[in-house]
Amino acid sequence: MNNLKLGIFGLRRGLDYLEAAQMNGFEVTAVCDADASCLAAAKQRLPNAAVYTDPEDLLRHPMDAVFLANFFHEHAPWAVRFLEQGVHVLSECASNATMAQGVQLVRADEKSGAVYMLAENYPFMLFNREMKRVYEGGTLGRALYAEGEYNHPFDLFDAGNVRALRSYTSHWRNWLPRSYYITHSLAPLMYATGAVPRQVSALPVFAPDPPEAPVSNRCGDKAAVITTLNDDGSVFKVTGCAAFGAHGNSYRLCCENGQIENLRGMGDKVMLRYNGWQIPEGMEEVNFYLPAPDDMDPAVLAKFGHGGGDYFVMRYFYNAVAHGAPVPFDVYFATTMASVAILAHRSILEGGRPIPVPDFRREADRAQYEADTRSPFPAGPQDRPDLPCCSDPAYAPSAQQLEKYRAIVGDAMFRK
Ligand SMILES: NC(=O)c1ccc[n+]([C@@H]2O[C@H](COP(=O)([O-])OP(=O)(O)OC[C@H]3O[C@@H](n4cnc5c(N)ncnc54)[C@H](O)[C@@H]3O)[C@@H](O)[C@H]2O)c1
Repeated sequence: MNNLKLGIFGLRRGLDYLEAAQMNGFEVTAVCDADASCLAAAKQRLPNAAVYTDPEDLLRHPMDAVFLANFFHEHAPWAVRFLEQGVHVLSECASNATMAQGVQLVRADEKSGAVYMLAENYPFMLFNREMKRVYEGGTLGRALYAEGEYNHPFDLFDAGNVRALRSYTSHWRNWLPRSYYITHSLAPLMYATGAVPRQVSALPVFAPDPPEAPVSNRCGDKAAVITTLNDDGSVFKVTGCAAFGAHGNSYRLCCENGQIENLRGMGDKVMLRYNGWQIPEGMEEVNFYLPAPDDMDPAVLAKFGHGGGDYFVMRYFYNAVAHGAPVPFDVYFATTMASVAILAHRSILEGGRPIPVPDFRREADRAQYEADTRSPFPAGPQDRPDLPCCSDPAYAPSAQQLEKYRAIVGDAMFRK
């Protein structure tokens, strides 16, 4: 019998988590989305749940916890409001889109007795669980350098993709700076090693979409190449959300005695190598293997999205809410990643300048950013954001591109 009541806000990504929520002990009793087709899909799968189009109504609905899967750049204000009501919050994978929101979120979390957790799922893919296990086993020694790459190119000419992912000109995906979607490349490294970024600098790969593509993409960059200097002296190199061929995500931890990485294009396989003079007993110098299942039946896990990552996210969240267990990605972890994302973009706009990453546990760092509301996302159809989303601030889609884009999605400028 599922004993904790969960609401879901944003039903495109939100419904992906339904089975994981139910299997882990949540009963989904309320859902919210302004989009009629999303609501119809939800009603079919959840005939007894309350259905809302306005999140203000969801806020009034009595429930224990909420899953925020609304627009990428609008999680923090809702998280704050639910936390203020004592509702536990699981938030999709950018905790905040401005520095000021990060400060507000940390303050709300500290005041609230409720749990806050970021719904970051990539650290729970099999190879990332294996990297963490091996690293914590100690045979590699201390991490010195690590790489995280999240690369998600789309076929720009696929009309179905365009409609599904960016169905009006001011949709967040059309204004997303390459560094902002950083959690899938950065979180696995922070989670495995425990290192926390304290300085960031970044460079863009500017490569605009072809002139004949049906796009309304305001960002002509294909990647942000981001480096962080961390609190333990290690350095990370991560991509944010890149779009160069070919699709995939990969990670590599380079340590004092050796290194471990997942292999691009090789599924869940990893390669673990040691210096010839530092091979632990029972290992080879080069170990190439598929990690053994370390949890439930892999066939069952595979039913959940992202290599089972979605299942683990819900399990950690449920255990935190129901049993007071610690969450893997708390408000400090989440806002640190968001700060890296936001400040990496500013570094790009300033030619790669290194920028300190604040520690929002410290009041002085909060004070520095509490009024910093600069955002690259438009707040409405006429709004011009106060920060360019592209490394070239003058870049904009061409009239030809926009015409082809509108032929697919129609004329809507703002939320349909
Ligand atoms: N972790 C992952 O693997 C993963 C995968 C996909 C998406 N995501 C994240 O999930 C979030 C949602 O992604 P998506 O692709 O579903 O985005 P989307 O923009 O396609 O959908 C957002 C949904 O929220 C609804 N919504 C937003 N604000 C609303 C409001 N004020 N009132 C009513 N409805 C509202 C919209 O109608 C829409 O259906 C994003 O943060 C994204 O980054 C994560």
